[in-house]
Amino acid sequence: MKKKENVEVEVFDTKVEMSEAAADFILSTALKAVSVYGRFTIALSGGSTPKILYAMLATDEYASVMPWADTYIFWSDERNLPAGHEDYNGTLATKALLDHVQIPEKNIYPVPTHLSPAEAAAGYEQEILDFFEGEPVFDIILLGLGDDGHTASLFPGTDVLNEEERLVKETTVDAKVSERITFTYPLINEADNVLFLVSGASKADILSDIINGTGDKYPAQGVAPANGTLHWYLDKDAASKLK
Ligand code: 6PG
Repeated sequence: MKKKENVEVEVFDTKVEMSEAAADFILSTALKAVSVYGRFTIALSGGSTPKILYAMLATDEYASVMPWADTYIFWSDERNLPAGHEDYNGTLATKALLDHVQIPEKNIYPVPTHLSPAEAAAGYEQEILDFFEGEPVFDIILLGLGDDGHTASLFPGTDVLNEEERLVKETTVDAKVSERITFTYPLINEADNVLFLVSGASKADILSDIINGTGDKYPAQGVAPANGTLHWYLDKDAASKLK
């Protein structure tokens, strides 16, 4: 059971304020990580919620102070589509953020979806293992929450939820673009910080079940960093049913 002191729930009046707090958190974590370890590692998420955050990080206020040369970008899940496709998760982050900032191309690690899903997952896992010299601990893994309680591409009822060894796995889901490549719990739960961004009234019921509830009913409840901190950043519509 997750220790309460490792969980932080923050509620903001608007999606913009939530995104601003996330941008501040990313910037301060990046500056700290670079001063301590010489680099900052973040896995971005798909979905539409982080769009404002990505655009904010591209503004001068953040972009001029982010340590881009020492920032390394990965994705916590990807859809099996060619890079650049409008539903490929990397596309939003690239267009809204990465195309506008001084990050070296070599610091960006897209999921290699030109391969088959199984090869892409195995290849991405190996890239991550090599990058972290065998012990992957991301400074931040950004996640979203689906209406059915999924996160990354960890969907209800799928085998990948039981994965204990692999860090990245291919999976088939009942959603738009059924073939996915996703971080698994063993990788997510090693992170220093996991940051969920959740916005909108359509997420309110499931969010209250997840945050107030017990048990493991929804995939997002399996996210419980072993040594890190779980941050829930919510707008007030998403948080409206929390006790
Ligand atoms: C994906 C995502 C997924 C997403 C949630 C929330 O590839 O679909 O990574 O886990 O984050 O479905 O999506 P929204 O932000 O669009 O609500």
